Amino acid sequence: MKIISDIEELRDQLSGQLRTAFVPTMGNLHEGHLSLMRLAKRHGDPVVASIFVNRLQFGPNEDFDKYPRTFQADVDKLEKEGVYVLFAPTEKDMYPEPQEFRIQPPEDLGGTLEGKFRPGFFNGVCTVVLKLISCVQPRVAVFGKKDYQQLMIVRNMCRQLALPTQIIAAETRRADDGLALSSRNVYLTPQERAEAPMLFKVLNEVASEVRAGHLDIFKLEKHAVHKLKKRGWEPDYISIRRQFDLQPPMAGDLAKNTPLVVLAAAKLGSTRLIDNLEI
Ligand code: PAJ
Repeated sequence: MKIISDIEELRDQLSGQLRTAFVPTMGNLHEGHLSLMRLAKRHGDPVVASIFVNRLQFGPNEDFDKYPRTFQADVDKLEKEGVYVLFAPTEKDMYPEPQEFRIQPPEDLGGTLEGKFRPGFFNGVCTVVLKLISCVQPRVAVFGKKDYQQLMIVRNMCRQLALPTQIIAAETRRADDGLALSSRNVYLTPQERAEAPMLFKVLNEVASEVRAGHLDIFKLEKHAVHKLKKRGWEPDYISIRRQFDLQPPMAGDLAKNTPLVVLAAAKLGSTRLIDNLEI
């Protein structure tokens, strides 16, 4: 595997490649990330991964400085997956001058859910993803459903800007007890780790209520929030949305069985976890 940090060198290395499959990450790789590499391999060749902890998408009080960085272990894992190039730019490679041109996602999609609780987050994500795509010029790029809203926003960005990159969605990988794998799980204390699967459990309860025909969405959401609060969580939201635009379902959607998804973000101690489940 070639490890490249310089953008020009990356372009040289990949010049003439028409079927590149790209997996952007922030490192601290786990099975979820590696499953994206495997999916990428099925959709293109060569596979290019990136590791870049993108300052633009972290708020002033978020965990940029303490975000887990495990570069050598990540390299070993990517080697084993047969990744051809790892693009690992430094902050100077990526942002040699202040990144003043930014991608601002539309308010309805980017200002809700995560966007409401993490102002500037999707602006930072879109800006770096567009820039990474411009560096790698892949035919396909793989994103995880774990970050459902991110996947949706990136997909819409690529479509509206007519980028020649198709976005492919990968299923969420979970631990045996249901907890979605996440780089941030390393922050959990043993007690918190034991409690953490409750988030997915609550999502499953909400989903089965909806499937069983319980259509008082507001009440279901409130009940789920209350349940987590009672156990010591601090939920930001538990929200039932339409899959296609992440807006709240209307009465007509419920009658027509429009595909829904329940999304959640909640803090357990000092760790903020997100998860979701398609209904
Ligand atoms: P990161 O959190 O490292 O995630 C990289 C990719 O892995 C994302 O597409 C994410 O959805 C996916 N992923 C994470 N956990 C997963 C799991 N348990 N199962 C399946 N896929 C999973 O998301 C980012 O980085 C950044 O925002 C990035 C897109 C790289 C832009 O900086």
